[in-house]
Amino acid sequence: MTNNAISTDHSLQNLDATPAPVTVIGLGLMGEALAGAFLRAGHPTTVWNRTTVKAEQLVAQGATLADSVGAAVAASPLVVVCVSDYDAVHHLLDPLPEGLAGRVLVNLTSGTSAQAREAADWAARRGGSYLDGAIMAIPPAIGTADAVILYSGARTAFDQHEATLRSLAAAATTHVGDDHGLASLYDVSLLGLMWGVLNAYLHGAALLGAAGVNAATFTPFASELVRTLTDWLPGYAQQIDEGAYPALDSTIDTHLAAMEHVIDESEAAGVDADLPRFVKALADRAVAGGHGGSGYPALIESFRKPSGVPA
Ligand SMILES: NC(=O)c1ccc[n+]([C@@H]2O[C@H](COP(=O)([O-])OP(=O)(O)OC[C@H]3O[C@@H](n4cnc5c(N)ncnc54)[C@H](OP(=O)(O)O)[C@@H]3O)[C@@H](O)[C@H]2O)c1
Repeated sequence: MTNNAISTDHSLQNLDATPAPVTVIGLGLMGEALAGAFLRAGHPTTVWNRTTVKAEQLVAQGATLADSVGAAVAASPLVVVCVSDYDAVHHLLDPLPEGLAGRVLVNLTSGTSAQAREAADWAARRGGSYLDGAIMAIPPAIGTADAVILYSGARTAFDQHEATLRSLAAAATTHVGDDHGLASLYDVSLLGLMWGVLNAYLHGAALLGAAGVNAATFTPFASELVRTLTDWLPGYAQQIDEGAYPALDSTIDTHLAAMEHVIDESEAAGVDADLPRFVKALADRAVAGGHGGSGYPALIESFRKPSGVPA
C-alpha cells in the first residue's frame, strides 16, 4: 500500500491554504464526526441529513444546513456522503435532475467492491468523479492522528481534494489505487485480519481460563506474540509475491503436529475446538498439495481457492 503519511512541510502548506468548501450528506454517528472535523479544520461546511434535527449542533458550530440534497450537492465541489448503505446513497442522489456535474463525490458508506465500482460508473453517467473510501476508525477518532481512511478511484480526483480530506485523518489519508473497489477490499481484508487475531486471542483465553488462568495474566504473552508476528509479515509478503516458500524456520509438517495439540487440549478442556480444527484443515490442504516441507506462507495456496477445489 502506498503510504501517504503527512509530512511536516505538507501540514505547514495546508495552514497557509484557504480551506476549501465541502458538503457532508448523512449526519449519523459517523457523518456528524466527519462534518465536525471539517469545521474544526476551518472548511466552509454544508450539511444535509434526512432527520434535520441531527444538524443542529453542527449548525451551532458554523455549518450551513442545506434545505435539499440538491442544494447540498450544488454548494461544494467536494461532496462527502456517509449513510447506512448504498441503497440509501442511490435513494438520495439518483433523483437529482442536475446530477453530479463537476462534483467529486466521496462515498464513505461501507459496501462491497462491486458496489463501489458500480457507483463509479453511475457517478460518471451523472457527470461526476467518484472516490470510494473506507473508514478504519470510530467516530471519536475522526480528525485525530488515530484515524485511518483509505480511498480508491481516480488519482487526479484524490490529489485535487487531498488537502481537504486530510482534515478527517491527518496522518493516514491514503490513496490505495485507481480501481474504485480497492478501498472496500482493503476494508474487508483488514477486518478479517482483526477478527482472526481477536478470535485466536479469545480461544486462547478460554483455554487458559479453563485451567484457572485469568485473561489479564494471559494478555501480556498474547500482546508480545502479536508484536512479534508483525515483524514476520514482510518476509511472508516476499514469499507470497515470489511464489516460493522455503522453510526458513519450520515446515508446515511441524506446525501440523502442534495444531493437533491445540485441538486435543481444547477438547480435553471442554473448550470449542472449531477454530483450531479449521486451522488444521487449512494446513492439511497445503500438505495434500505437496507443501508439507514448505514454510508457513505456502498456506496462501489454501486460501486462493474454495475448499472444495482439489489442491
Ligand atoms: N460508526 C462507525 O464506527 C463506522 C466506522 C466505519 C464505517 N462506518 C460506516 O459509516 C456509515 C454510516 O454509519 P453511522 O455509524 O453514521 O450510522 P448511523 O449512525 O446509523 O447513521 C446512518 C445515517 O444514514 C442515514 N440514512 C439511512 N438510510 C437513509 C435513507 N434511506 N435516506 C436518507 N438517509 C438515510 C441516516 O439518516 P437519519 O439520521 O435520518 O436516520 C443517518 O444519517 C455506514 O456505512 C457504516 O458502516 C461507520
